[in-house]
Amino acid sequence: MSFFELINKRESCRDFMDKKVDKELLVKCIDAARLSPSACNSQPWSFVVVNNEEKSLLVAKCTQTAGLNKFTNNVPAFIVICEEEAKLIGGVSQKYAQGDVGIATINICYAATELGLSTCIMGSVDREKLKEILGLTENKNIRLVLAVGYANNDKVRNKVRKPIDEIMTYIG
Ligand SMILES: Cc1cc2nc3c(=O)[nH]c(=O)nc-3n(C[C@H](O)[C@H](O)[C@H](O)COP(=O)(O)O)c2cc1C
Repeated sequence: MSFFELINKRESCRDFMDKKVDKELLVKCIDAARLSPSACNSQPWSFVVVNNEEKSLLVAKCTQTAGLNKFTNNVPAFIVICEEEAKLIGGVSQKYAQGDVGIATINICYAATELGLSTCIMGSVDREKLKEILGLTENKNIRLVLAVGYANNDKVRNKVRKPIDEIMTYIG
């Protein structure tokens, strides 16, 4: 698969197979995040990987409290993506950390796609409840939760996106 094929193949999956994910694949996904670029190489992230039937269901419930993400009940694995303090050269602020976490997140998504897995990035999460369930400290900054598993349907949807003219200014 070329890189552009990979970009096209990655899409949000909301219908997962009842099939477990090997730990080794999840570790590879986290390694893809680990290799991501970040401001001053500050690497302001950490990841909690949940790959356990009982615990995964508890995480699923935390993604549903706003009435969204009903599909998560049978998601086998989740990656909870946290923002950590960025130690930046010259004491610059944290303003890059959230972007860095986003970059790491998409690297995980692409790694998962390459490994035959599917993902859904979720921002709608009851963070307080999730911290309690996972035993995370109160100051943990959960940014996103990623559903990871095998898609029931591997037919890729058409991407709904703004046309390139609307988003690109080309100065030649
Ligand atoms: C920061 C962020 C938060 C998101 N939160 C949710 C969510 O809570 N539930 C959901 O089903 N999809 C969520 N999505 C997925 C987007 O809806 C999806 O990426 C977008 O519609 C484009 O579709 P695609 O991922 O299939 O290409 C989120 C995506 C991002 C980047």
